[in-house]
Amino acid sequence: MNSIETSGCAIHFNNACYEHISQFLTTTTPSKIFVLVDENTHLHCLPYFLGQIGTSLPIEIIEIDAGEQHKNIETCLGVWEALTELGADKKSLMINLGGGVITDIGGFIASTYKRGIPYINVPTSLLAMVDASVGGKTGVDLGGLKNQIGVINSGAMVLVDTAFLSTLPEAQMRSGLAEMLKHGLIQDASHWQVFEALEEITKSDFDTHIRQSILIKKAVVDEDPYEKGLRKILNFGHTIGHAIETHALNHPDKPELLHGEAIAIGMVVEAYISQQELGLDQAVVKEIKERIVKIFGHPKIDQNDFNAIIALLKHDKKNEHGQINFVLLQAIGKPQIDCHAGTELIINALSFYNA
Ligand SMILES: NC(=O)c1ccc[n+]([C@@H]2O[C@H](COP(=O)([O-])OP(=O)(O)OC[C@H]3O[C@@H](n4cnc5c(N)ncnc54)[C@H](O)[C@@H]3O)[C@@H](O)[C@H]2O)c1
Ligand SMILES: [Zn+2]
Repeated sequence: MNSIETSGCAIHFNNACYEHISQFLTTTTPSKIFVLVDENTHLHCLPYFLGQIGTSLPIEIIEIDAGEQHKNIETCLGVWEALTELGADKKSLMINLGGGVITDIGGFIASTYKRGIPYINVPTSLLAMVDASVGGKTGVDLGGLKNQIGVINSGAMVLVDTAFLSTLPEAQMRSGLAEMLKHGLIQDASHWQVFEALEEITKSDFDTHIRQSILIKKAVVDEDPYEKGLRKILNFGHTIGHAIETHALNHPDKPELLHGEAIAIGMVVEAYISQQELGLDQAVVKEIKERIVKIFGHPKIDQNDFNAIIALLKHDKKNEHGQINFVLLQAIGKPQIDCHAGTELIINALSFYNA
């Protein structure tokens, strides 16, 4: 598969990854390589990765605990200290080998250690491949607030080797798939259509769809890296989705919901709002709901939770001037940013999802 080399950070795929990193290591000769992993990617991804890059440069492994709850400044402190103790200098290279938690926190650590050392993202989850590792957003959570602290800084390159997906749990695969569906809905009707019969997609076709999904994200980010306007379209499904995700996290007694699972619900709810506000075709809204329910199942949102979810919406980071900000669709591939919706419509939309 051809690399994606528009502006900035290049993205390479599968076997080509290892030719490119080898070239990079030869030309930049890092003083030391630091590979950041969590316990899962340490076990499942690191041995294969080290076998593939086969370099004689010194390598240190730094492991952090897996999971979003560790994407915080305490974890950064531990890694910054480890880097210092292990003698990382300005010429060291950091390689983030993991899901979106590793690429987000690793990118942030590298961007701030000694005012910035080069880093490479090697995403190992589907979500990190098609979304988190691309576009230069790095950072950590603060208290209950997601991605509250961070910087925008693209790494030197992204290496997407889909072989890593063979050990990724199925629920995590689905979570990443939600972002691929989103990329189709906001920018490319044909990319949405390829998931009509998911069960018939071969591995090599799926690789092509991963590349296409990354291409969509990268094109948006290249045009608007600092989210002044266009980049906001990537938030489709995320206003409602984040509120549902946060609500589930605040209530550990309720069934666990992965990010993509919450976003999938958010896309159905926001498709309904799109119909009411922008005239999105009713048949399209029905198709979006049916496809998402087919892939993600149909966990209902408890009616008693609607008010708590709406209260969370009012605190969304994307709000401006006290109004809840939505990305809505006029049609598949035609998003509109900075839209608003009243409480009653949001309640109707949540009920539409449940029905
Ligand atoms: N920077 C961005 O633009 C951006 C965009 C979207 C999401 N994100 C961030 O990404 C994070 C979510 O990413 P995620 O879903 O990858 O979460 P994650 O990094 O927690 O990975 C999910 C789980 O899968 C495991 N795992 C990863 N690869 C594996 C493999 N190949 N085999 C077996 N297990 C594997 C991880 O250890 C973890 O337990 C969130 O923190 C989110 O904020 C960032
Ligand atoms: Zn997302």
